[in-house]
This record gives sequence, structure tokens and C-alpha cells, in this order.
Amino acid sequence: MKTLVVFYSRTGNTRKLARLIAGAMHAEIEEITDRVKRRGVLGFLRSGNEVSFGRRVEILPLSSDPREFDLVIVGTPVWRVSVSSPVRTYLQDHAAELRQVAFFCTMGSFGSRYVFNEMRELCGKAPLATLARTERQLMSADLPDAVAAFAARLLGMPVPQRVGAEPT
Ligand SMILES: Cc1cc2nc3c(=O)[nH]c(=O)nc-3n(C[C@H](O)[C@H](O)[C@H](O)COP(=O)(O)O)c2cc1C
Repeated sequence: MKTLVVFYSRTGNTRKLARLIAGAMHAEIEEITDRVKRRGVLGFLRSGNEVSFGRRVEILPLSSDPREFDLVIVGTPVWRVSVSSPVRTYLQDHAAELRQVAFFCTMGSFGSRYVFNEMRELCGKAPLATLARTERQLMSADLPDAVAAFAARLLGMPVPQRVGAEPT
């Protein structure tokens, strides 16, 4: 199964998870970037406002064509209990080109269920699997097991025993 991991990350958490997932899935990986200044308090507020108003952002051209992949695994940080604006834009632009999807997100503590529902609506299709990790869980020793379980579900292999609760 030819697989692409595509993600946005403002501070590195989602990038960390994306790299682990890409490794477990032997997938290609591509980071969504934009030109918006998102550093510091102003960047935090700007990012939050974008999602509150459902704004699109201009994302820089990507080298991968999602139509060439059997599965596209899309990752986002949770912003105000919503999908981040760069990932929202990516999904709006490419929804029709995605054959099969899976989702992952990282967050401080809460919001993944809403984010996955939103991503599902934006794609117009249900994910084969989802994986949510809090910042704390990203530092936990069971992170590789959680990634392995996610990959096993996607590959239709027996799922190893789950470690740690899935946050909401
Ligand atoms: C604008 C903004 C809004 C956020 N809103 C939430 C939220 O609603 N729930 C939550 O648990 N974390 C929230 N966070 C924290 C991020 O989801 C969390 O730090 C995430 O792991 C960041 O991923 P990144 O390092 O890939 O950017 C928010 C962060 C930002 C910048």
C-alpha cells in the first residue's frame, strides 16, 4: 500500500508523531508549511483566530501528489478544538483526490474527537484509523506502542495490546 503522511506542525509535536508514523508505515512524508508568522503570543492568537473564523491560509506548494497514493495519513495539531487552518486548507483543496484516509493529531489535552469529525467532513470519507496523543503522551515510553497499534490497524494486522488511554 503506497502511503503518504502529510502534516502541519507549529511547534514540532505533530512532526514528531508524523515521523514515527511514517517510519512504521514505510511511508513518504511531507510537511505542510505556510508564510504566516505563528511564533510567540501573537502567532498563537493569530492561529486561534484563523480557526475561529474558519479562514483558509495560503500553503506553500507540496511536492507529493496525493492521487499517487493508496492511503494518505493526515496529521494536525488541535487548535481551539478544531483542525489547524493549514490542514483545513489542504483537505479543502485535496479532498476529492484522497482515495483512503487516516488521521492523527496532537494536543495539550482535549479536542481530538471534534477534530477527527471535522476532518472526516472535510474529506467526505471516514478514516481507516485515527490516533490522538496529548503532549504528555508524546513524552511517554509507550508512544512507539501506540504508533505500532495505529499502523497495525491500517495494515490489517493483529493489533498489539493497547497501552494508555486514547484521549478525547
Ligand atoms: C492556537 C492554538 C490553539 C490550541 N488549542 C488547543 C485545544 O483546543 N486543545 C488542546 O488540547 N490543545 C490546544 N493547543 C495545543 C496544541 O494542540 C498542542 O500543543 C499541539 O501538540 C501542538 O502541535 P505542534 O507542536 O505540532 O504545533 C492549541 C495550540 C494553539 C497554537
